[in-house]
Amino acid sequence: MCGIIGYTGSLDASGKLIKGLKSLEYRGYDSAGIAVYNSELNEVIIAKSKGRVAQLEAKANGISGNTGIGHTRWATHGNVSDTNSHPHKFGNVTLVHNGIIENYESIKNQLGVAGRLKSQTDTEVVAALIDNYYQIGSDPSNAIIKAIKEIKGTFALGILFDDIPNKIYAVRNVSPIVCCKNDDGAYIASDITAIGEYSKEYFVLPELAIAEISRDGFNIYDFNGNQVDIEYIELDWDINSSGKKDFPFYMEKEITEQPAAIQRIINDYVKNDLPCFDINDKLFRDFDSITVIACGTAMHAGLIGKHLIEKLCRIPVNVCVASEYMYSMPIVNDRTLVICVSQSGETIDTLEALKYAQSNGAGSLAIVNVKASSIAMQADNVIYTNAGPEIAVASTKAYTTQVAVFYLIAAKIAYLRGILSKDDVKDFINELKKVPSAVENVIDRREEIHRLSSSLLTAEHTFMIGRGLDYPALLEASLKLKEISYIHSEAFASGELKHGTIALITSKTPVIALITQKALASKQQSNIREVQSRGAMVITIATHGISDNIDFALPTLKDDFNIIPAVVAMQLLAYYVSADKGLDVDKPRNLAKVVTVE
Ligand code: G6P
Repeated sequence: MCGIIGYTGSLDASGKLIKGLKSLEYRGYDSAGIAVYNSELNEVIIAKSKGRVAQLEAKANGISGNTGIGHTRWATHGNVSDTNSHPHKFGNVTLVHNGIIENYESIKNQLGVAGRLKSQTDTEVVAALIDNYYQIGSDPSNAIIKAIKEIKGTFALGILFDDIPNKIYAVRNVSPIVCCKNDDGAYIASDITAIGEYSKEYFVLPELAIAEISRDGFNIYDFNGNQVDIEYIELDWDINSSGKKDFPFYMEKEITEQPAAIQRIINDYVKNDLPCFDINDKLFRDFDSITVIACGTAMHAGLIGKHLIEKLCRIPVNVCVASEYMYSMPIVNDRTLVICVSQSGETIDTLEALKYAQSNGAGSLAIVNVKASSIAMQADNVIYTNAGPEIAVASTKAYTTQVAVFYLIAAKIAYLRGILSKDDVKDFINELKKVPSAVENVIDRREEIHRLSSSLLTAEHTFMIGRGLDYPALLEASLKLKEISYIHSEAFASGELKHGTIALITSKTPVIALITQKALASKQQSNIREVQSRGAMVITIATHGISDNIDFALPTLKDDFNIIPAVVAMQLLAYYVSADKGLDVDKPRNLAKVVTVE
């Protein structure tokens, strides 16, 4: 949800900013812009444009200078236009912003600047507020601190001052900023994928600390002027692997990375055939119920986790959409274990819900992909999914690694509570170990799925039906299809379809049926016949041998373990529909990968 970047050093800034913005574009692609200090003209030059970074590139051609900031936008306040694009300049202050300023209207009125603002954004008001406290030659930090004290909301700001040619200032509240440096200068960005190629170590800018950034590095101090210590983190992602390689889209590349990513979960978190996390066993033993809090795809991973934990451990698991959690009068106390699931670790609704649960005494565990992200740092315990950078907006490998972690959590709890014996747990883990090659098998046969996808190309609506664990898997499959192909899709528990929605089934409505649960197969077959007798064309994806008339056969794993291969098959289905419709698979309209606004 908006990406910011900054560079100051000995090299050309605009090239570095544009390159970084291309990596950050998945955070929002409504518009992009840069501001670079040109020392010959002694002024800040801005280029910005609605649309993709590629459109900005043409406009930014010829802008030279060694210090600059950049932005890629997911519009919240003000429509998508050149004027509302960042950076915004007011007086002597130019800035980029990720987040939302809640009280921007009252600040605007208080400053009396409404007539002088060019955009409809909340951001330009912040530039005006800092400028209000800034005089050429004065201390910029004082102006920033005074302004920040008046602002309500979330923000990551990169700021240039008209009379300070070689420095960037940065400050944040909730929204992330990471920083690194090398011999060529210093860099800031919303996430490490944009600047990770410049250094093997980086740090997260502490909240409400001012960073004064020059080519030599960082000077960081709190609002009282005290130096703030920073903690460098080693970058263990191979940033070079974050390129698209020979794949037409990141999504296809990331789908194919799943066998290795799931194998990594097993390698990292299984020792002697038992689940092993670097977390005190008490966390998995001393609670009465679990609440999983997450959004989107991560929430769907939580639904699989609920099923696995409840089935294996007989412990109630509640799965809550993060944005609703605080407002649903949740039952939470010191006997609740809250598990927050998030690829980015920055989803603000999940982060705020986590804080709320913690303040009510809950124990907390985060399942997160991005190291040192806000949710990872906020939770008392963290399990990293180590899936590597996920660039496509539609989440794939992040989801399957989250689900793999839930298998291990379920086994861990069952073992620690004496529900499963050591041998039972080993059998469970041994079945999980078959998942990477089962996923590989699905990916190797992707042309079969490609052929099936052709029957969805002209569909306006599809329904997906499944029972038991297949139902939450279909919720994810359905989300995948709708977000990248723009086909309306809804997943139903098969028995529920006839309570209304079956009225929508016609010969023009493809229905995708999933069958991985042996005990439920015959009931599911009846449900398939029900929709077929209304004329629906049914695509059946099922475990090999579980049913007749299978269109795509999944490898034969035990019931509960075929969910990951099944979802991978349906990721591919969605992918081919989107690609064959000629859509921008990686950047679906209106979406952003990292959602840092409520
Ligand atoms: C956005 C992304 C989804 C993701 C959701 C939660 O909507 O497009 O792919 O599932 O946010 O993000 P998180 O980073 O918390 O997993």
